[in-house]
Amino acid sequence: CGIVGYIGKRESQDILIEGLKKLEYRGYDSAGIAVFTNQGLEIRKSIGRLANLEEKLEGQPLHGSVGIGHTRWATHGKPSDANSHPHTDNSQKFSVVHNGIIENYIELKEELIAKGRRFVSETDTEVISHLVAEEYDGDIVKAVQRAVKRMRGAFALGVLTEYEPERLVAVRFASPLVIGIGKGENFIGSDIPAILEHTRDVYILNDGEMAVLTQNGVELMTIEGEIISKEIFHVDWDLVTAEKAGYDHFMLKEIYEQPKAYRDTMMGRVSDDGKTVTLKEIGMTTEQIKAIRKVHIVACGTAFHAGLVGKTIIENLARIPVETDVASEYRYRSPIITPDTLVIVVSQSGETADTLAALREAKRNGARVLAVTNVVGSSVAREADDVIITQAGPEIAVASTKAYTSQLIAFSLFGLYLAEVLGTKDGAWVAEVIDAMHQLPEQVEAILAQANVLKQVAESISKHDNLFFIGRGVDFAVAQEGSLKLKEISYIHSEAYAAGELKHGTLALIEEGIPVIAVITQEDLYEKTLSNIKEVKARGAHVLAIVNEGMEHEVAKSVDETFVIPKTLQVLAPALSVVPLQLIAYYASLARGNDVDKPRNLAKSVTVE
Ligand code: G6P
Repeated sequence: CGIVGYIGKRESQDILIEGLKKLEYRGYDSAGIAVFTNQGLEIRKSIGRLANLEEKLEGQPLHGSVGIGHTRWATHGKPSDANSHPHTDNSQKFSVVHNGIIENYIELKEELIAKGRRFVSETDTEVISHLVAEEYDGDIVKAVQRAVKRMRGAFALGVLTEYEPERLVAVRFASPLVIGIGKGENFIGSDIPAILEHTRDVYILNDGEMAVLTQNGVELMTIEGEIISKEIFHVDWDLVTAEKAGYDHFMLKEIYEQPKAYRDTMMGRVSDDGKTVTLKEIGMTTEQIKAIRKVHIVACGTAFHAGLVGKTIIENLARIPVETDVASEYRYRSPIITPDTLVIVVSQSGETADTLAALREAKRNGARVLAVTNVVGSSVAREADDVIITQAGPEIAVASTKAYTSQLIAFSLFGLYLAEVLGTKDGAWVAEVIDAMHQLPEQVEAILAQANVLKQVAESISKHDNLFFIGRGVDFAVAQEGSLKLKEISYIHSEAYAAGELKHGTLALIEEGIPVIAVITQEDLYEKTLSNIKEVKARGAHVLAIVNEGMEHEVAKSVDETFVIPKTLQVLAPALSVVPLQLIAYYASLARGNDVDKPRNLAKSVTVE
């Protein structure tokens, strides 16, 4: 989503629309603005492209010099006019734009309904406008502070009230927000591109901080009301760099967004005590879950690779047999789909033609379909019986990174959920997995901090024309994703092989100096993979091992280089081990001078068969 806000002397409508245009590249499904006019606080919003909103405004412009605007990327509730921002309360005196997720919105909504408040949308944001209105007693800053204390989750907010048209309130809690400093005017933006045209001097808010903007000043404080001061950050990026938040490519930005994507995908789906998974979005009854005899996971490309890991997760946690298929094969192989089959389709975009056709085939045969997708309201999301939204946020680079890892998180949550319902794992074990999942974001950060090492590895790999990835179990699934990533963007030929299968043919291709990347994170398979590593080493391969902390010393004796990933549970290791492979692919592509974000011959979303 994108937020923009303005308070000053100029017509705010044009500034808001221009700001929203700068955020449109990130994906959107609706847009809206709220402006103080001489009629009071007026809102216009529209589903679809920003042009639809502009058209609406042409007929009915909003004149006024204070306003907030928003482009929406749905996280709760389908794209619709009602679900678009800004949201308001029943008195229509308050207006809110919001990015992020309010974890406890259902509780808050029930409480507000009991107080007589009427809701018109399905969003978590509408709760905020009612909550602020409820807390208001003449001071918007205090009302926002009180409201925010009741909210759990991640959010960036812009709030206006008709009672105090000279103030614009902004809050940040785990969702980015910047304050643009002008002369006789000030701005808010979820991203720098939204305001870059007007000012290069910004305050970057931290979590738990807020700003009160007037025409002539900005007051910064914590959400507790303690006044703070901050250094001005001078932005010297051009617009293109600003769109990538300072990163050279969208792919790199998205790789670095993974810790946030993990947190967001878990948010609201784990009980407060951290002991159980609560997937409220799953409509299946306990009886229906108990009746599942087999699971088919169907997807394309990177999502298929997430499905390979998903198979291991579900089989391990829930002891239900799982088959994972590529959608274009599944459709035409007369799969045996019975009403006791659960079909899980995985798709970042939710629009891939083969995946959608597989979903329809499954439904025709009476199976229940669960979709794991990143796009609320996408075709796959609309047609499935149940949907788990991966909260990765818009993914722009063709090569998928944060969507894949968020799919792994979604599979882990779903596997745990099945285990709870079916009683296949005890509570203490479930709690242990959840605890380990909470540690993943920081562990990914630790890997990202070593990007330079991987850059060097990638630069030497980029000089080769062939290489191999090997692994066993989920390490093999990750090896396949690592190989695909490298092929997609570096155009280097690589193959991923089940480590134990090498000796049945592919070993003939190993010659002096050929790079082999071995993924070796599974303790119970570790000796087996190690002997396969020795097989390729003996034939002259140059081996890099991606190895779990604790096993690195032993592995180091048999390989040329090791890259150590932090220790986690075996079943969660893919969420870490894939990250170095993403970075290797990225830097190899860069070293070869390729167009990283838009590789030749490929499209982000393939809507033809
Ligand atoms: C395209 C993209 C891949 C993606 C695949 C499936 O081929 O280039 O990166 O993995 O489609 O896309 P989906 O949106 O269904 O996950």
